[in-house]
Amino acid sequence: MIPAEQQEGPASPSPLAGRDCLTLAEFAPGEVRLILDEAQKLKMLRRSRIPFRPLFGKTLAMVFQKPSNRTRVSFEVGMYHLGGHALPLSPQELQIGKRETPSDTGRVLARYIDAIMVRTFDHEELEELAAAADVPVINGLSDSHHPCQALADLLTVREELGELEGVKITYVGDGNNVAHSLALGCSLTGAELTISHPPDHGPDSKVIELAARLGDAPTITEDPQEGVVGARVVYTDVWASMGQEAEAEERKKKFMPYQVNEELMSQAAPGAIFLHCLPAHRGEEVTAGVIDGPQSRVFDQAENRLHAQKALLYLLLG
Ligand code: CP
Ligand code: NVA
Repeated sequence: MIPAEQQEGPASPSPLAGRDCLTLAEFAPGEVRLILDEAQKLKMLRRSRIPFRPLFGKTLAMVFQKPSNRTRVSFEVGMYHLGGHALPLSPQELQIGKRETPSDTGRVLARYIDAIMVRTFDHEELEELAAAADVPVINGLSDSHHPCQALADLLTVREELGELEGVKITYVGDGNNVAHSLALGCSLTGAELTISHPPDHGPDSKVIELAARLGDAPTITEDPQEGVVGARVVYTDVWASMGQEAEAEERKKKFMPYQVNEELMSQAAPGAIFLHCLPAHRGEEVTAGVIDGPQSRVFDQAENRLHAQKALLYLLLG
C-alpha cells in the first residue's frame, strides 16, 4: 500500500479548488485534460486496490429531483473510495424552489457540507443555488447540461482511441442535455463533433455558440447517414428525456430514421465504437444488436462516470 502522501496528485491546493462544474465551460482546455489525467490515475489506483483517501472527513450532498442509477451510485461510491461521505437527498426530502428558494437551499447546505451535487430540471435554478453556495456545486444533470457524463465520455474515447484531438464523434438524435455537454467537451478537447438530429430537435443555438467560442463548433446536420460517415465514435441518447415523458409516443415516428442500427453503424469508420449515456431503450434509439454487440463500449463508459467524478471531486475539494 502506498501512503496517501506519497501518491502523485495535483499540486496542493488543487488548481480547481472551490470551483463549480455546471456546464464544463467553466474550465479551460488544460483543466479538462487535468481532470481526465487524474481520472486515469484514480482508475489505475482503484484497479490496483490501492487506497487513496484525500477527502477524509468531507461530505457531499447529492440532491436528486429526478431518478438516477449511475449518477447516484457512482458519486456515493466515489466519495466512499476517496475517504469521504455522501448524503443523498430525494425529492421527498428536498425540493428545489418549493419550500424555500434555490438560493436559501444552497446557502444552508453549504453550512453543513463540503460540496453539493444536484440533479434537477431547470438549469437556472441550479445556477441560482450555486451562486449562493460558497462550496463547489456539481451539475449531476439538468434539462440543459450533463457535464459529468461528458467527462466520462471523453475519458472513454481517449482510452479507446488514444486521443481526442481530431477524433470524429457523431452524436445522432435529440439535441438534449447530453448532446450539449458533449459539444462543450469536444470543443475544449479538440474532438470533432457532428450532431445529426431530427428537424426541430436540434441543440440550443446558445450552447453551440458557446462551443464555438471555446474551440471548434460542432457540425450540425439533419441527415443521419451523412452525419456518421467517417465517425470513429457513434453516440446516441434516449429520444425523450426525463421530464418529456408526455412527448415520448409522438417523438418515436419522427426519430426512427435516427435509430442507431447495424446499417447506420456500417456507414461509420471501420472499427467505430458505439457510446450511449444509458439508460437505453433497445428498439428505439439503438438496436439490441448494436448496444449489445462488439462495437459497444457503453459499460466501460458507465464505469468511467465513477473515475471521472472521483477526479472532479478530488480536484474541486482539494
Ligand atoms: N447516464 C446517467 O446519468 O445515468 P443515470 O440517469 O442513471 O444517473
Ligand atoms: N437525456 C437524458 C439523459 C439521462 C442520463 C435525460 O435527461 O433523461
